[in-house]
Amino acid sequence: MAILEIKHVSKFFGGLAANSDVSFTMAEGMIMGLIGPNGAGKTTLFNCITGYYPPSRGEVLFKGRKMNGLQPDKVCKLGMARTWQKVRPLAKMTVLDNVMVGALCRTNSLKAAREIAQEQLQVVRLKQKAGFLAGGLPIGERKKLEVARVLATKPELLLLDEVMGGLNPAESEEIIQLILDIKRQGITQMVIEHDMKAIMRISDRIVVLNSGEKLAEGSPEEIVNNQAVVDAYLGSEH
Ligand SMILES: Nc1ncnc2c1ncn2[C@@H]1O[C@H](COP(=O)(O)OP(=O)(O)O)[C@@H](O)[C@H]1O
Ligand SMILES: [Mg+2]
Repeated sequence: MAILEIKHVSKFFGGLAANSDVSFTMAEGMIMGLIGPNGAGKTTLFNCITGYYPPSRGEVLFKGRKMNGLQPDKVCKLGMARTWQKVRPLAKMTVLDNVMVGALCRTNSLKAAREIAQEQLQVVRLKQKAGFLAGGLPIGERKKLEVARVLATKPELLLLDEVMGGLNPAESEEIIQLILDIKRQGITQMVIEHDMKAIMRISDRIVVLNSGEKLAEGSPEEIVNNQAVVDAYLGSEH
C-alpha cells in the first residue's frame, strides 16, 4: 500500500500557483527525491503534505487518511515529521532538551523522553554535545540536531527540507550516510536537495517540480536523461 498519496494538489498564494495539480504516490520504505529550481514549490508541497496549511485544491492521504489542515501535534502523532529549511533550534535550551521536545510527542514521561533523545543523539553522532546550548552549534551540527529532533518523534514518514544546505562536502557525506541509516530502519523519506550527486545516490525515485508543476517523475537515471528536466533545471548549474 502507498504510505503517501498526493492527489491533484494545488496551492495558491493570491494569483500565484506555488503548487499546481501535483500528483504522485510513495511506497513504504522508499526514498523519494524532490528537486527543482528555487521557487519551484518544493517547500510549499512539504507544507501541504504535513498539514501545515491545507492545499487550495486536491488532497493528501497519509496511510489512507486525509491530512488537510490537521494540527502539527496531530500530524506528528500519526507518524509524519518534517525538518525546516531554515533550522530554528530552541537556542537557549540544551541540545538534549531540544531533542526531548520531539520525543514528548510520543510520551508524557520526561525520563522516557530523555532516553529517546539520548538514543537519537547517538544515531546522529551528536551525543558529545548533549549539554551544549543549541544556539551555539555550528550549522553542520544544527542540521544533525534537527534530524535528531524529528527522529525522536518516531516517524514513519520523514520529510527533509535541504538538510545538506550550507554544509561542506564532509558534513554532507555524514548526512547522506545518516539518510541511508534511517532508510535501513524502515522509515520512508522524502528529501528536498539541490546537490544532484547526493540526490542521485540516495533516491529510489525522483519528482521534479518546476513553476509549481510536476515536470517529471522517474528513477534517478530516467531523470538525468530527461530532456525537459535538463532544460529546466539540470542544464546550466549541475
Ligand atoms: N506563505 C507564502 N505566501 C506567499 N507566497 C509564498 C508563500 N510560501 C511560498 N510562496 C511562494 O511560492 C513559490 C514557491 O515557494 P517555495 O515552495 O518556497 O519554493 P522552493 O522550496 O521550491 O524554493 C515562491 O514563488 C514563493 O515566493
Ligand atoms: Mg524551499
